[in-house]
Amino acid sequence: MDSYFSIRMRASYRGLHVSGAERICKEKELSNVIFELLKRPKKYDFISLKTEKIEDVEFISPLPVKSFFMKSVEEGRTFAKKLLMDFGIRKDIVDNIFYLISTGPYNGRNMRGAMLIDIDTGERLEENQEKGIRTIKVDWEDREYASNVLSSYPPLRLTSRSLDALALVSKNVKCGVLAEVCWSDDPDYSTGYVVINGIYHRIEPLKRVGDPFGGRAYFIKAKDIKDIINCLRERAFLIKV
Ligand code: COA
Ligand code: AMP
Repeated sequence: MDSYFSIRMRASYRGLHVSGAERICKEKELSNVIFELLKRPKKYDFISLKTEKIEDVEFISPLPVKSFFMKSVEEGRTFAKKLLMDFGIRKDIVDNIFYLISTGPYNGRNMRGAMLIDIDTGERLEENQEKGIRTIKVDWEDREYASNVLSSYPPLRLTSRSLDALALVSKNVKCGVLAEVCWSDDPDYSTGYVVINGIYHRIEPLKRVGDPFGGRAYFIKAKDIKDIINCLRERAFLIKV
C-alpha cells in the first residue's frame, strides 16, 4: 500500500507569518502537492516546506455545518457567546475569552496557535502563551469533491478558508476538544465560528473588516490535556464526505 505524507508549508515576509497550509497525500502525489503549496503564498521572502511520512491515517466525517448571518459584529458576538454559555461554559469565562481574542491573547498580540482553556475554571493551560497549540496532520480526502458537495447548498457559502477550518475542527472534536471559538487575525476576513455539541456554527460577522486581532480558543477538560495535545500534534486524520 502507498504511504501517506503530511506536507506543511509556511511562508513569511519581513519576519511576519503570511501563509500556512497543510496537505496529506500519497507518496506518488508528493511532487505535485509540493509544487501546489509552493505557488500558494502571494508574496514571501522565506518559505518552508516540510514533508513527514505518516504511519497511520484515520478517516472521519466532517462536522455538520450551520451558517448564521448577523446584522452587526455585536449581534454576532452576542450570539456566539450565547451558544457557548448554553453549552454550559460560565459567562465570566466566555467574556474573558472574547476579550482576549479581540485585544490580542498574547499580551495584546496575536498568538501563533490556539489557547487551551480549562472548560470548568477558565484557566489557560497552554505551556507557551505566544505559541499556543497548533492542530496539524489533517486534510480532506478529496478536497475538490468535498468543496463541491459542501457548497452545493447555497446558505452554507463555504469558502476555501471555511473548508480548512471545518477540517481542523472536525479533527479537534475527535481529539477531545469540547467547544471552540475562533475568528481570524486577517483584517480582511470577518467570518468566525463556534463549535459546540459537535456542530460547526459559522457566524458572519464576528469582527469588523480592518480589525487586526483574532485567535482560537479550545475548551477542554484539564485532566485530558496530555492526550489532547498528543492527538492534535500526532494523530493524522483525513476528512471524508
Ligand atoms: N501563525 C504564525 N506563525 C506560524 C504559524 C501560524 N499559523 N505556523 C507556523 N508558524 C511559524 C512559527 O514561528 C513557528 O514557530 P513556533 O512553533 O515556535 O510557533 C514556526 O513557524 C515553525 O512552525 P512549524 O513547526 O514548521 O509548523 P507546523 O509543523 O506546526 O505547521 C502549519 C503549522 C504551517 C501547517 C499551520 O500553522 C497551518 O497553517 N495549518 C493550516 C491549517 C489548516 O487550514 N489546516 C486544514 C487543512 S484542510
Ligand atoms: P487564522 O484563521 O488562520 O487567521 O487563525 C486564527 C488564529 O488561530 C491565529 O491567530 C492563531 O492564533 C490560531 N491558529 C492558526 N493556525 C492554527 C492551527 N493550525 N491550529 C490552532 N490554532 C491555529
